[in-house]
This record gives sequence, C-alpha cells and structure tokens, in this order.
Amino acid sequence: MEEQTVPFPYQCSELEGEDKELVERTIAANPIELLRLGPKGYIVFKPYMRDAENIYNMPLRPSDVFVASYQRSGTTVTQELVWQLLNDFDYEKAKEIPLTARYSFLEEFMFIDSEKTDIYIENAKKADPNFDPTPILMIGEMFKTPASTKLATAPSPRFIKTHLPMSFLPPKVLETAKVVYIAREPRDVAVSCYHQTLLFKVQQFEGGFKEFWNLFHRSLFTLTPFFEHLKEAWNLRHHPNMLFLFYEDVTKDKPAAIRRIAAFFGKTITEEQVARLSDHLDIKNFKKNKSVNNEELKDSALFDPKESFIRKGKSGGWRDYFDEEMTQQAERWIADNLRDTDLRFPKV
Ligand code: A3P
Repeated sequence: MEEQTVPFPYQCSELEGEDKELVERTIAANPIELLRLGPKGYIVFKPYMRDAENIYNMPLRPSDVFVASYQRSGTTVTQELVWQLLNDFDYEKAKEIPLTARYSFLEEFMFIDSEKTDIYIENAKKADPNFDPTPILMIGEMFKTPASTKLATAPSPRFIKTHLPMSFLPPKVLETAKVVYIAREPRDVAVSCYHQTLLFKVQQFEGGFKEFWNLFHRSLFTLTPFFEHLKEAWNLRHHPNMLFLFYEDVTKDKPAAIRRIAAFFGKTITEEQVARLSDHLDIKNFKKNKSVNNEELKDSALFDPKESFIRKGKSGGWRDYFDEEMTQQAERWIADNLRDTDLRFPKV
C-alpha cells in the first residue's frame, strides 16, 4: 500500500526589519531569499520550500545511513569514515568516486536558485568579464532535481548527507534508518562557516568576520539557530539508531571514534584497519585527497582560490578571530543557550 503524504507541518515567513537589513547589507548581490521556517525559525533559502514536503515524506529504508550536522562541524570527515566502514575499506573505489557522488546531499539544491542563474552570472561578470558561466549553468540544471527525487530510485544502501535539523527530516527517520550526527564548538563553527562563505564566491558575502559573526549569533545564517539544531539531535542521542558525536572528540582520537562508529553499525574491525583509516582521515592526507576536497571546483571560478574546503581542522582556532567584545558576547550567548540543556562541548 502506498504511504500517505503528510502535509509539511511548518510555516515560513520572510525576514523583516532589522534582520532583513542586516542580511541585505552583507549579501545584497546574492539573488537568493532567506526565509524563517517552523517554530524555531530556522533559516532556509527560498528554493527549499519546493522540496520541504517531499523530504519530510521521503520513504526510508532500513539500510539508509544519514550523516547529519550543523554545517562545518566535521561532516566530511565523518562521511568518509562511515563510508569506509560500511564499504569494507574500499580505498580504491573511494579514490575513483568523489564523496559528493557517494553521498546524496539532501538540501544542496537550495543553495543556488536554479531559476536565477542569469543573475549570478551577471554579477560574476561584473567582477570578472571573462567569467565562464558553464559550471553555474550546470549546477543550476542539476539543482532542478532535488536529491530526494533521485534517492527514490537509488540503489541501497543509500548514504545521505544533510545539514537539516532533525525536525525537518521524516518524523520516523530513527525508526527505520541510522543517523550519525556530529556537533562542534560554535565559535569554531562560525569561523569555519565564514571561510566557507568566502570560498563559495556565488554567495557574494561582503564583510569581515565581525559582520559574519553578527549574522551567525543572531541566527541569521543558513540553518541557524545553531543551538536549536544541536539540541534537537542531542535530545535524541539515546535512541539506538542515533549516534551523537563531537568534532573535538573525533579529531582528537580518531581510532576511538572509528571503534565507536563501527560498534554503532555492528561492525567488527581489526586494529590494522583502524590504523589505516585513522591515517587516511588525518587532516594532512585529507587535504590532499581529491575525492573529498572538492578540488574539481577549484578552477571553476565558483571557488575563491585563496580558500579551501578542507581547511585547518583545528579546535579552538576561533581565538584568532574574536576581539574582547565578541569574546564576551559569545560567552554570554553560549551560556544563555546551554542553560536549559545538559549539552556541553568537550574541553580542548
Ligand atoms: P575548519 O574550517 O575549522 O578547518 P564540514 O565537513 O562539516 O564542512 O566541516 C568542515 C570542517 O572540518 C573544516 O574546519 C575542515 O577543515 C574540517 N575537517 C575536514 N576534514 C577534516 C579532517 N580529516 N580532520 C579534521 N578536520 C577536518
């Protein structure tokens, strides 16, 4: 029997007043519109609404594996780790097929409005008259079909990447599929998101870190409010199909993380396999690994060559970016948001 579609339960609203002004000041040229969605007011790009209900109703399979996170929290390294564990450490196959093709990125289509590629191209040409529009046109075409549609006919097991909060996923996701969620200290996430915003030139962010931080902690950046995102997953951490990890733990002790994730998936592994995978995931090797570092986009004029997708991989690096005023503001913000939860970030 066909499963019945349930209506997507959340309403969206446009940004207004000071929020709207703040966003427009920094991404005025980007034609994409931001919306607040649901009772927690998560920020999404307008194209998300085209597929929100399909994602919410996505038929799931017991073999589905989700790697979920607030963005820039160690998703990529976790994806590779999980994929290797569940694919008998097939390093050759991993080299041939980029991680972006081994995983379906559920909400990727929302990041560029496929109806407005002409505006992105026009803007890019103002900065560089020789701008090659081919990659953006290709991406625009690709994003017309969201991942949820492609996943419907994809072979099992399906590996799915998402930065959506748990409440936007199918409500019964944990009854059927497994979810590995990775969280990271918010100030390091903010710095990493800032660099990613500069990396993806199409976002046309104008401002320094201070302006970015202002957007981030006021929950005006994609898929913020940050703490609501984490708390939703944290509250589900005892579910047998949910594994909640911290970036700081995974990167500090990769062998322990590998063993923990293997146990979650019921996999028995040898110490040689642990050692080889730890080495494979080491940031120095990862940075050079063309299958995970998105290098193919480097020359496409979509990426700023001064930035990189796999960056420093350091914990506590935020200290180089926050002045005294921002440090105090961040401390208050973190304390306020941790008051009603036992979620705590590992000390580094
Ligand atoms: P930084 O920008 O602080 O360096 P995501 O994969 O969720 O986008 O997260 C990206 C962050 O994880 C970046 O942080 C990136 O450098 C870091 N990262 C990627 N691969 C890593 C690895 N193998 N070990 C440690 N950190 C890694």
